[in-house]
Amino acid sequence: MGRVIEELKRFRELDIKYSEGRIFGSMCSSIHPLAKEIVSLFLETNLGDPGLFKGTKLLEEKAVKLLGEILKNKEPYGFIVSGGTEGNLLAMRVVKKMKGRTIILPKTAHFSFEKAKEMMDLNLVYAPLTKGYEIDVRFVKDYVEDYKVDGIVGIAGTTEFGTIDNIEKLSEIAKENDIYLHVDAAFGGFVIPFLPKEYRRKEINYTFDFSLNVDSITIDPHKMLLCPIPAGGIIFKNSSYKRYLEVDAPYLTETKQATILGTRPGFGAACTYGLLRYFGEEGLKKLVKEVMDRTFYFKERLEREGFKLLLEPILNIIAIEDENHIETCKKLKEMGYYPSVCFNAKALRIVVMPHIREEHIDNFIEVLKEVKRD
Ligand SMILES: Cc1ncc(COP(=O)(O)O)c(C=O)c1O
Repeated sequence: MGRVIEELKRFRELDIKYSEGRIFGSMCSSIHPLAKEIVSLFLETNLGDPGLFKGTKLLEEKAVKLLGEILKNKEPYGFIVSGGTEGNLLAMRVVKKMKGRTIILPKTAHFSFEKAKEMMDLNLVYAPLTKGYEIDVRFVKDYVEDYKVDGIVGIAGTTEFGTIDNIEKLSEIAKENDIYLHVDAAFGGFVIPFLPKEYRRKEINYTFDFSLNVDSITIDPHKMLLCPIPAGGIIFKNSSYKRYLEVDAPYLTETKQATILGTRPGFGAACTYGLLRYFGEEGLKKLVKEVMDRTFYFKERLEREGFKLLLEPILNIIAIEDENHIETCKKLKEMGYYPSVCFNAKALRIVVMPHIREEHIDNFIEVLKEVKRD
């Protein structure tokens, strides 16, 4: 056994670790120590066959209930899935069966919707963005008046910029026109509800939850809740959506199945419940305040060095204007630093996750200065 582990360790050494402070472009982070213990307890569980793992299934239901509380939904129906991609795919399955195949979504939408398009033969209509990189709701309103639209997707915390689409306006349009509304809060779901007052701006509408006319929301524990991968969340308004998702699974302990994965891990659900219980609202507020404080430390340091941000950070995501963003990103990687790039603007993209400390920010800025000096 020792020999195998030694061999595996040599491969693991090739990976970059979050703790080294060089990963600046990921929406995942070091997992919480409590999660490590929970994983080992639930490692053998399979939520694909929940009749065998009744305790784990109960934990998934409890996790969904707590996610419902965050999202202001008293009767949530949903699952802890493999990530934001699966959450979005499940929502798109429902839209297609319930309403039809034409979906309008912002240009900032995550590429998981392109996978949904291919798999389900969807017709995706990309709405342009406003100057503030939000979906242009005027365009959406005009479009639904002129054409048949079955679903709208709004993003609460875009992957690129951390911007928040005006979900309230989208929900009004959806209601008036009997259109399905899905909100992708894969990242923002664990940030927006916990943002401290000092980081909330008057001009931004932060409401994205079920207090509005929303059908489903993606919210991922393996991003800002610090759960191990895979742990995504998909929450529907209520259990009436079940009939669009379930297929017969005659040889299992429960004869219906809704998720895309069949055999699926139970530790994601256990960790989601465990960490939500551990953090509580106060703990999550503290975590979000810490990353927001660091985001603004980063912003001030960058501006002092003459770099310009594309927009004032809304969440813990920074976009640095750069005409040669792809080239800069490549050079930074050669020097051992890993931000990423925006694709709807010429900008470097940085996600200030909990593993990024002030000293890592200082180091990054020195390397960025060097790269830009060349
Ligand atoms: C807004 C948004 N939705 C969906 C996803 C996809 O999530 P995953 O990579 O967990 O499938 C991401 C990932 O970054 C995201 O930012």
